[in-house]
Amino acid sequence: MSYMALYRAWRPQNFSEVVGQEKTVKALQNALQQGRVSHAYLFSGPRGTGKTSIAKIVARAVNCSRPEEGEPCNQCPSCADILQGNFMDVIEIDAASNRGIDEIRDLREKVRMLPAQGKKKVYIIDEVHMLTTEAFNALLKTLEEPPDSVIFILATTELQKIPATILSRCQSYHFRRLTAEEIVERLRQVALSNKMKVSAEGLELIARRANGGLRDALSSLDQIYSYKGTEIDKQAVLDVLGLVDDLYLSRLMEAIFARDVGAVIEMLGQALQEGKEAQQIAREAVLYLRDLLVYSLLGTEAELAVVTDSARPYLDNLREKIEPAQVMKALNTLMAGADRLRFSEGNRFQLEMAFLELVALGAEQKPSADARPPRTVRTKAPVSVTKPAQNASADGTKTQSKAAESPNGGDGKTTQQAWARLLAAVKEKKIPTHALLAQGKLLEHKDQAITIGFKKAYKFHKEKLEESANKNILEESAKELWGRSASVSLVFLEEDSAQDPVVKRALELFGEDIVEVKE
Ligand SMILES: Nc1ncnc2c1ncn2[C@@H]1O[C@H](COP(=O)(O)OP(=O)(O)OP(=O)(O)O)[C@@H](O)[C@H]1O
Ligand SMILES: [Mg+2]
Ligand SMILES: [Zn+2]
Repeated sequence: MSYMALYRAWRPQNFSEVVGQEKTVKALQNALQQGRVSHAYLFSGPRGTGKTSIAKIVARAVNCSRPEEGEPCNQCPSCADILQGNFMDVIEIDAASNRGIDEIRDLREKVRMLPAQGKKKVYIIDEVHMLTTEAFNALLKTLEEPPDSVIFILATTELQKIPATILSRCQSYHFRRLTAEEIVERLRQVALSNKMKVSAEGLELIARRANGGLRDALSSLDQIYSYKGTEIDKQAVLDVLGLVDDLYLSRLMEAIFARDVGAVIEMLGQALQEGKEAQQIAREAVLYLRDLLVYSLLGTEAELAVVTDSARPYLDNLREKIEPAQVMKALNTLMAGADRLRFSEGNRFQLEMAFLELVALGAEQKPSADARPPRTVRTKAPVSVTKPAQNASADGTKTQSKAAESPNGGDGKTTQQAWARLLAAVKEKKIPTHALLAQGKLLEHKDQAITIGFKKAYKFHKEKLEESANKNILEESAKELWGRSASVSLVFLEEDSAQDPVVKRALELFGEDIVEVKE
């Protein structure tokens, strides 16, 4: 018997086997149970998160002769035929393969014919965003007056490419990326039933690299298994997936921040000798710095991309020594270096250049500990990253005592001074609040209405400031400075955060999900 890829062997066959996607599963299962199935669904979300699998479960459930609680039985003749792909009324169209014109035309002709075999005709149109405009229009005509006996399930990874006219006619479900824990759990199950022994760190690494997609995770496991057999440890995962060991990266970073040029060169040479690709080393180091940055900001809440438990002590150590702003700079520098390697076949010299640039950055030492806001994991002490805001906060420090002496002055000053005074007043009350505020910008100070703008990238800061404890401090400070009826509002700046070169580069390298650190 031929070997069936793990991800195919492990396609969930009913709702209870689906990992995650709870809301979607619940809504669909309820609708099926109560006979309230809609005539058109749109499933959107990242690759390998269950869209096609769930579409097929729905197709069976509506045609099953003895469904239970909305689940297909998977045994009756209809279920069996659908599982084997022999059921005439479940029609799968892959819009990616020929962009669908012929199939949709065919669909328009046949859609009004009653189901031949089952209760409902189910059209599953995968990658629906790939349809041509004509095909979309044809589909739209059908969706406008769908026959009772037909259900459409459209699936896409690119919701933004679906025309609004189609969207408005479908019930839409968004599929989320699965968490690393959810993926680890499923991998563990799969490993167990295939008699594989995968170490905990190995599972963790595979899961994190899958970026929320279970298909990719299962494919990786398959690949590692076929190279390494049933005993799979962290090293096996690193080898097969071409990853760089996080312990190695930790030592490399320590050498960089200790400005130990000799050690850096030696370690790079060693990795190349072991057969790692130059670009891979740089990219993995970028991810390591990214981990260091989010760990500095969020502490144990951070979801780390490359650092496993065994390297966490290094991370703790680095985070004590290095300011987040400095990590940000290093990240930016190394991203540029990794980029250059991509276009240069990545030779040793260029790899060394990329890392020595980081060593040069390390020359700027961390300011003395007591000049920094206290860093507690709970308050998620934020970083100061942007230069303009940094300047403003420096001004704030200078005017601090003055503002404290004459809290009611301030009429007729420039906006810049008003901002400095507000920052100073807030700083006096609570340093963490000041650190949040310092990322903003005074947009308007008119009469007693103060408007502060934040770049979209500082959503976290704006939201934190809107929490009542922080907002009260802001309002109180404003009142002290400008009188009882002073009020403060926080808004987003018009500019698009994606324009920010650092954010843009980070987005290119990691994809939106990692960089925005939202949700
Ligand atoms: N939520 C999930 N629960 C269980 N298994 C899943 C899930 N998502 C994906 N898988 C695994 O990945 C395989 C592929 O999933 P599926 O085809 O449903 O993904 P998809 O969302 O349609 O992806 P694509 O957008 O690439 O078409 C499944 O056969 C299954 O092994
Ligand atoms: Mg699919
Ligand atoms: Zn059945």
